[in-house]
Amino acid sequence: MNHVLIVSGHTDLAHDSVANKTIIETLQMLIPGVQVDRLDTLYPDYKIDVRAEQAKLQAAEVIVLQFPVFWYHMPSLMERWMECSFVHGFSHGASGDKLKGKKVVLSFTTGAPEQSYQRSLSSGVEIEDIIIPAVKAMCRLTQMDFAGYVFTGGVSYGDRQEHSEQIIEKARQHAQRVAKLIGGL
Ligand SMILES: Cc1cc2nc3c(=O)[nH]c(=O)nc-3n(C[C@H](O)[C@H](O)[C@H](O)COP(=O)(O)O)c2cc1C
Repeated sequence: MNHVLIVSGHTDLAHDSVANKTIIETLQMLIPGVQVDRLDTLYPDYKIDVRAEQAKLQAAEVIVLQFPVFWYHMPSLMERWMECSFVHGFSHGASGDKLKGKKVVLSFTTGAPEQSYQRSLSSGVEIEDIIIPAVKAMCRLTQMDFAGYVFTGGVSYGDRQEHSEQIIEKARQHAQRVAKLIGGL
């Protein structure tokens, strides 16, 4: 199995997550030797250790970006991590090819159910209209390969009290799909 790095962009995985926490715990059981980069515990102050993060990225063959969708984006912490780590001369630019050939997998959750992401409905967007185009463009610029995405909707923090068992089960199934995707790379 390729060296897999899961970058977790959730802002409080320990105290305010069910879905992402379960996905990561399940992936740790399913993928031997997987490395988890917990941005919330490493950088609660958003001060990214750029050299450390670049070293982790360079060592990885498969990079999984794991996050909950917040306002149709990645959480701000993950955006900050990307802004700081993917810089000219490292990931792109004339001599910036350190990420070339690495495979990127997106793994994310939303509170709204999957079927609500339709242009004709209230959100006005398909899931492929958000985040994915920007990550594909980033992959093209940095010479990485966009290897696909796994998305699970209907796991809102607002439903945790009533539906936590269903959320955990959906999250476990999500992790199985991520592991299968990675296994096929
Ligand atoms: C600040 C904030 C913004 C959110 N924005 C969205 C959104 O744009 N679309 C959506 O479907 N869910 C949204 N949600 C719901 C989260 O995506 C959902 O609670 C999360 O995926 C559940 O994962 P967790 O249990 O790991 O926190 C938002 C939640 C928060 C806290």
